[in-house]
Amino acid sequence: MKIYFDSAATTSLDPVVIEEMLKYMKDDYGNPSSTHAFGRRTRAAIDLARKRVAGHINAEPGEIIFTSGGTEADNMAILCSVNDLGITHAITSAIEHHAVLYPLEELAAQGRIKLSIVNVKSDGHIDLDHLKELLATNERSFVSLMHANNELGNLLPIKEVGEICREYNAVFHSDTVQTIAHYNLNVRDIYIHFITCAGHKFHGPKGCGFLYVNNEVKVKPMIRGGAQERSMRAGTENVYGIMGLAKALDLAYENLDEHTAYISGLKDYMISRLEENFPGVRFNGDAKGASLYTVLNVCLPETDKKETLLFNLDIEGISVSGGSACSSGSNVGSHVLTAIGSDPNRPSVRFSFSKNNTREEIDYAIEKLKVIYELPVVA
Ligand SMILES: Cc1ncc(COP(=O)(O)O)c(C=O)c1O
Repeated sequence: MKIYFDSAATTSLDPVVIEEMLKYMKDDYGNPSSTHAFGRRTRAAIDLARKRVAGHINAEPGEIIFTSGGTEADNMAILCSVNDLGITHAITSAIEHHAVLYPLEELAAQGRIKLSIVNVKSDGHIDLDHLKELLATNERSFVSLMHANNELGNLLPIKEVGEICREYNAVFHSDTVQTIAHYNLNVRDIYIHFITCAGHKFHGPKGCGFLYVNNEVKVKPMIRGGAQERSMRAGTENVYGIMGLAKALDLAYENLDEHTAYISGLKDYMISRLEENFPGVRFNGDAKGASLYTVLNVCLPETDKKETLLFNLDIEGISVSGGSACSSGSNVGSHVLTAIGSDPNRPSVRFSFSKNNTREEIDYAIEKLKVIYELPVVA
């Protein structure tokens, strides 16, 4: 049995998306900047894809810049804000993705910005009172807080944070890599300047994403060398990537309610099976509260098999992500689990689900975990 419970890392390509991409690999391979018929065909396809993508988040097509994925989009939002918007103070949290933390830390190390880290509570939620305090006592700020945490699943009250940013005239970026295609997001209904997307998190291609830049924000390109993406991101477009991303997003939003209900059901089922079988099991973050329905981070009971747990699951055909908080003196481990004070002596396992998983797979994983923990198993 091969079970894939790592959809927050990446997802399989939907066969319909593959079909769409093949068309642009085999037949419609023109360079969109060429003025001949081949070029015009791909130019028109990209223009239409941009319109569809923008429509899904209620943006204008001109507010979408296709990128090589979530990392580039996060980097661009940050660097452009500092380079072009006169930002000298940034606020982020310790649980952000490294695509956000590393560029901000580097800018701070270069002395170009002052960086403030907003407090995160033990349930993984952002301390909004502290955020207001940081905004009130600093220059005009850039705020980067992710919509859903990729390790814990915790959801940010994005609209409320947007309103706080509005009150303090801050520039607001949210890494929405884990929530686009999983929730309806309406950029006209949220006070927000930048959001980011990666196609491979929703059965689209790797190496393709986008940055949404609100029309009112005037920034310059980060990558220079051509007039592509309305001169905002140079380089020949990743045509099949863009077409695949747009198709994957169409499919996700067409079936959003059905997939949300189905995947939420899988997560709830996993929670109840774990609680039935593993006394003392805990969940990192706010699994039963404001939490992404695709992610469940389980803090299992202590075991002397902690170091080999993921390896043993892998041998049984179960692919999951792991990690534990850094123990004192060690710099390996998850910066997110460390930030929320998860017990470093207990193994933490992230199960992340997609429409392709089943309850039978969850039953199988529970039985294999019981074997590892030497608990009685169903014959
Ligand atoms: C929250 C978050 N931000 C950013 C990224 C980076 O996206 P990409 O792999 O497309 O560069 C990821 C993916 O791992 C992510 O989960």
